[in-house]
Parts: sequence; structure tokens; C-alpha cells
Amino acid sequence: MSEVQTHRVQPAWKKRALIDDKTYQQWYAESVESPEAFWGEHGKRIDWFRPYTKVKNTTFSGDVSIKWFEDGLTNVSYNCVDRHLEKRGDQVAIIWEGDNPYDDKKITYRELHDHVCRFANVLKKHGVKKGDRVTIYMPMIPEAAYAMLACTRIGAVHSIVFGGFSPDSLAGRIVDAESTFVITADEGLRGGRTIPLKENTDRAIDIAAKNFVMVKNVLVVRRTGGKVGWANGRDLWYHDEVASVPAECAPEQMNAEDPLFILYTSGSTGKPKGVLHTTGGYLVFASMTHQYVFDYHDGDIYWCTADVGWVTGHSYIVYGPLSNGATTLMFEGVPNYPSPSRFWEVIDKHQVNIFYTAPTAIRALMGAGDQHVKKSSRQSLRTLGTVGEPINPEAWNWYFNVVGEGRCPVVDTWWQTETGGIMISPLPGAMDLKPGSATRPFFGVQPQLVDNEGNVLEGAADGNLCIVDSWPGQMRTVYGDHERFIQTYFSTYTGKYFTGDGCRRDEDGYYWITGRVDDVINVSGHRMGTAEVESALVSHPTVSEAAVVGYPHDIKGQGIYCYVSLMAGEVPSEDLRKELVAHVRREIGAIASPDKIQFSPSLPKTRSGKIMRRILRKIAEDDFGTLGDTSTLADPAVVDDLISNRQNKK
Ligand code: WTA
Repeated sequence: MSEVQTHRVQPAWKKRALIDDKTYQQWYAESVESPEAFWGEHGKRIDWFRPYTKVKNTTFSGDVSIKWFEDGLTNVSYNCVDRHLEKRGDQVAIIWEGDNPYDDKKITYRELHDHVCRFANVLKKHGVKKGDRVTIYMPMIPEAAYAMLACTRIGAVHSIVFGGFSPDSLAGRIVDAESTFVITADEGLRGGRTIPLKENTDRAIDIAAKNFVMVKNVLVVRRTGGKVGWANGRDLWYHDEVASVPAECAPEQMNAEDPLFILYTSGSTGKPKGVLHTTGGYLVFASMTHQYVFDYHDGDIYWCTADVGWVTGHSYIVYGPLSNGATTLMFEGVPNYPSPSRFWEVIDKHQVNIFYTAPTAIRALMGAGDQHVKKSSRQSLRTLGTVGEPINPEAWNWYFNVVGEGRCPVVDTWWQTETGGIMISPLPGAMDLKPGSATRPFFGVQPQLVDNEGNVLEGAADGNLCIVDSWPGQMRTVYGDHERFIQTYFSTYTGKYFTGDGCRRDEDGYYWITGRVDDVINVSGHRMGTAEVESALVSHPTVSEAAVVGYPHDIKGQGIYCYVSLMAGEVPSEDLRKELVAHVRREIGAIASPDKIQFSPSLPKTRSGKIMRRILRKIAEDDFGTLGDTSTLADPAVVDDLISNRQNKK
């Protein structure tokens, strides 16, 4: 690997930073040597109705049990709203920037309190209680944040489903969570196009009913005013409902280990799993990482471009920033609408200081040309962040030099839905930066590299990334399936949390995430299980077998490459290819759109019938010179056919 240039901490970063290198070293040492004392102290950054006396009670062995602050009582919405009212009631909590650049609004903490309380009262009025699961399928509008906070206020557990998912995917999540209350909008609006959220919800509810989960109510926020179907008695208009309930609602006293939310995410096998996060530890970790990683100071305007349907939106649009009393910007649109200058225009318009986005957006905007950036001032910017996938040094350098004009540290933050918050990342005043490296672990995070046999690798090494001890933001279980939790994360390397990522540690102890080592692919920063796409493909009547792999894609990071065998008598054609792409979009959602489909009469299998994905990956990468050992194949001739019909010829 060619050496990348190291960027030293600039004096200006250090001067204002909350954490310098000395403090980082000290705190980090304390956090791993005495986690009880360290987190006992930092747990106090949130308000507790009853302080905890126990801090950490965790084991990664046997049944795997993770408890933090277990006898403390608190409430997330209280911490994100009420506790700020005295000091910053009139400060803007949420800046909303619509899809249309002329559409925006500002919501103060006092107004947020009013909205959240009313929303909570509507939920209560319709029988939603502590512990009930509420599904949220919303566009990026402030009501999505009100809905989340309203759930936390009364102790209901939210399960947000990204608005780009299909009715089938939504139904699967409603059924798994046994959720009978759904919050949605008439339509979403992105890049000038509408998304039929209510219609999708109606269809999902029918599918869920066939699986014996009956949705009792759908609360609908009016966003576009588009026409929607209506089931009297079941469907409720949000604006009617909130008008008739009080604007006060006492926050429920929640145990630190009471469930806070479920978020479904893709794994290497089976259906998406419901990652369960709980109340106290999650909030402490989200709030602390938000403050230190972004070097957040009171009064900063902070913008994370994620969607609340992903974990980044949970932790770094809503819970982290609001628990810190920040002004958080929520953006409904897309980076290139109406033009590729949109991000930079929004930054100038709202004087954004901290900007957090994904490598895929950076690469796309880099491709659009510097002129779209240079039109804007961007003088308000102070810290830049990225998340979701490895960032290639070219994109990093462009972000640093062109967007940040060499003035702003880039924090490349590695973490996962499962980790709740940022795990490996620079702290702006404490770490020299190397483009492409997430640098060093956050407080309390103990990464370890192991080889495929589980041997611990020391010093500079390349291996599989594990975390050896618990941190407060860690997921607690797979909803309804603790066994799957143990199997997925703690059985590959017994007694360690296995991330699924490959990683290199260099001679300076810096971590470089190299990407997933399992059958998960990362498309535009969205996690996709290859098994999910395969099962969508084989559900089409013409398909007998499918194998899906990732391949390097200039903008998306990884693209989706599908090998498809057809039923006897079916004939490959361009029309069928299009039909299969449309089918996968219908089954899962647009984010799972296959980029390439290769029809092949058969797939390479071992004599025991196992598909040899290693070979399929190589062919998809157009790198078949090094196919490795093919002697175990049942029929080696299959490979020649696959190579000659490959779709990614360079
Ligand atoms: C990948 C998103 C490299 C990684 C917060 C991880 C990254 C998966 C980075 C989790 C990064 C996330 N550098 N890879 N900075 N951040 N990833 O659950 O493969 O949607 O396992 O959480 O994204 O994706 P998830």
C-alpha cells in the first residue's frame, strides 16, 4: 500500500478541542483499566430520576448478558428536551430543511417539548403503553423526531423502517416486532419525487394480517397533501389528533435497561435481525461520542445528512445532539437536488459548523466537479465527518482540501447499528489524521485483531476485528431471539464480540477498516445481506437459483452482482433482466437494486453442493487470473462459462 500523508493536529483544532492527546491517553487508559470508575463518572452526563449504584455488569461468555447502570431510572425524552428548557428553551433544537430549498423551519426546545408531549398523549389515548412496539415509517420531517421522542417519553419501543423499503420489507418488520401501531405520512418527498408511504403502509398491513399481526392504528402525518386511501376506525390524521390533547405529558421513569428501540439490520444469513438497544447506556454513549468526536461546543450548528431510518440518524441526528442541547439540522432531500451544490448551499444558509455525511455522497459530489463546491463560502465549517463505509484516500483528500479548504479535521467514524455509537474515530484535537484510517478507539472500546483461527494478532497486523469488552452503547440482544444474538456475534471467536469487518492495524496503532469479511455488502453505505437479495430473486417464478456478491463500485463503494440460473425452459433476455431488477426492488426496496445480472446455466459448487462464492466474487471483480484452487468444484467447466459471460469486463 502506498504511504498516505499524515495530517498533524492543527494548532487551531487543538486550541478549541475538548480533548487533547494527553487527555485522550489518560482517559483511554482509565476507561479500559477501570471501566466502573470511568463510566460511573461519565454516566452522570445525563440526568437520572434515581441515580445508579451499579455501573457495569457484562459478560460475553455463556448466555451473554450486558447490563449498564442497571438500577438507575431515567427517561430519554426528558434528557433530550425537558432538561434544556430552563437554559435554552428558546434555542433552536431542530432546523428542518425541506426537499425544496424554499421550504424550511426552525423548532425551539420549548416548541419541541410541546410537540413531543402532544404526540405522546396521542399515543397514550390510543392505548399505546410502556413496552409496546411502535413502527415508524416516515420521511425526514420533524414529526419523525417527535414520534421517536414521544415513544421514549411513554416507554414505548420504536422500530423505524427506512422510507425506501418496500411494503414487503415493512411488513416483515411489523410482524417480527408484533407491532400494532404504525406512524407514517401521506407521502414522502425526495429530489422532487414523491414516495407513496401511506399506500405502502396499507399494503404492508395487509401482508402483516396474513401473518397474524393485526395493526390497530395508523397515525398519518400530512406532508404533501397527496391522495391516500383511508380505513375508518384504523387510520388517524396526526393534525386532528394532536389538536385535541394536552401539551403536557409526564415522562415515564424508565429503568436503564428497559428497551429503547429496535432497528432491523442485515446480516450474513437469514432475515434482517432486530437489533435491540436499551435506555441508559445507549444515551450515555450516544451523547458522549457526539460531544467528543465532533468536538461539539454549545451553540454549534450541527448537521448529519443521514436518514432517521438508519442508526446514524437515531444516534447522530436525534439522540446524541438533542441530549447535548445542540441545534441539529434535519434534511429531507438528496445531495444533488436541485443541483450538486445543495449540501454547500445548506451549509451557508444555516451556518453549519459540523457536517457529517457518507463517503458515497462525497464521491458522487467529487465526480460532479469542484465548481459546485467553490460557489459556496463554507466559512462556518469547522469539523467534517464520514461514516458508513471505508473512505478511499482520494475522496478523503477531496473532502479535506476542497470542501474543508484544509482547515477542518475529517473524522472518519467506524461503528455499526449494533454498537449504538461511534467506536473508532479521530478526536479532532487529539489524533493526527491519516486519510482512509478511522485512527483510534473511543474511550472504553477495546479492539482486537484475530486471524481466522482466532489467534490474537499483536502490533501491525491484518485480521478480523473483534471487541473484547462491553461498552455502554452495545446492543443487548436480537429482539425475540437471544440465541441468534449469541450465535451471530459471540460464537465465531468465543467470548469476543465479532464485528464482521476486516481490519488492519499499522505501526502507529491506527485502525484501517478494510470492509466486511462476511456475506454482507455495503451499497452506498447501506448494509445489505446477499442472502436477502438471493431470496428475493428466487421468489421470482423464472428463477431456480441465485448467488449474489459485491464488487467494487466507483460511487456506491460496492455494487450488487447477481448470478441467476433460470428454470428449465426459461430464456435469458434483456426484458427478463429488467423484470428481475424491478422484482427485487418490489421485494426489498430500491436500495437493493441489482447493478448486474449474469444469467448462467449453473453455479460453481463443491461436490457437497456448496456454492463457491470466492470464485463468484473474483469473476464479478473481473479478477479471474487468481481464482485459486478450483479442484474441489463438482464441474470445473462451469467457471469458463461464467468468465466468458461476465458483466464487468474491464
Ligand atoms: C461499515 C453504520 C469503514 C462497516 C453506522 C460496518 C465502515 C458497517 C465505517 C455497519 C467506516 C461503517 N469505515 N467501514 N468509517 N462505518 N462502516 O450497521 O462494514 O449500517 O460493519 O452502521 O458499515 O453498517 P451499519
